[in-house]
Amino acid sequence: MRDYEGLSRKHFNQQAAVYDEKNTVYYSREGKISCRNIAEYLRDKEWSSLLDVGCGTGWLIDLLRKERMADYHGLDLAENMIEVAVSKNIPDAQFVVGKADELPYDNDRFDVVTCSQSFHHYPNQNKAMAEAYRVLKKGGLYILSDTGIGGVGAWLDNHIFFKLAPGGDCYTQNRKSIAKRMQRAGFTVIDCVQLQGMIYRVIGKK
Ligand SMILES: C[S@@+](CC[C@H](N)C(=O)[O-])C[C@H]1O[C@@H](n2cnc3c(N)ncnc32)[C@H](O)[C@@H]1O
Repeated sequence: MRDYEGLSRKHFNQQAAVYDEKNTVYYSREGKISCRNIAEYLRDKEWSSLLDVGCGTGWLIDLLRKERMADYHGLDLAENMIEVAVSKNIPDAQFVVGKADELPYDNDRFDVVTCSQSFHHYPNQNKAMAEAYRVLKKGGLYILSDTGIGGVGAWLDNHIFFKLAPGGDCYTQNRKSIAKRMQRAGFTVIDCVQLQGMIYRVIGKK
């Protein structure tokens, strides 16, 4: 199997310095669409602790912290992305380098776990989802927004293009496939919507 994590780490370490400024396809237009949508969804919900998995430069946490004080944590594979996140000095936010499928947090720790435009990079998606489930409190929300397709397009991406791509893209799927995966992981799916183009949002409740 290709070293998807190694490729993602290298790719996003190279992107880190320009990631926030650019607003083009891939970086970081989709991320901003997903993050703004997640922030809007969370605006009137009750929560006080949040983990953003694959947080990149901390864009989502920065956005959320402008509206609400809370216990914020962000984790990402690429140390340069985390360096940019830390440099923003976001109050109440802690950022660590780490892997989505080995979260360094206690069980039942967070009210919300978010994952924006990162899940399709994970070589071990079931384990990453199980980890999100583990660290969520009972009744907590897992909000996953990503870009993905199904059918022949997904087959071509997953079996041909991603095997050649340099950016660590590993496995794409559509929102229905993510919803099924969430159900198998033990979540109750409370929301499954297409946001814009191929960008979707699926929400599971523990
Ligand atoms: C397209 S960026 C999205 C960043 C941010 N969430 C956003 O929406 O702007 C994908 C991020 O996922 C991270 N990533 C990829 N594989 C990962 C893994 N296995 N564990 C944790 N983070 C990972 C990358 O380093 C990168 O920062």
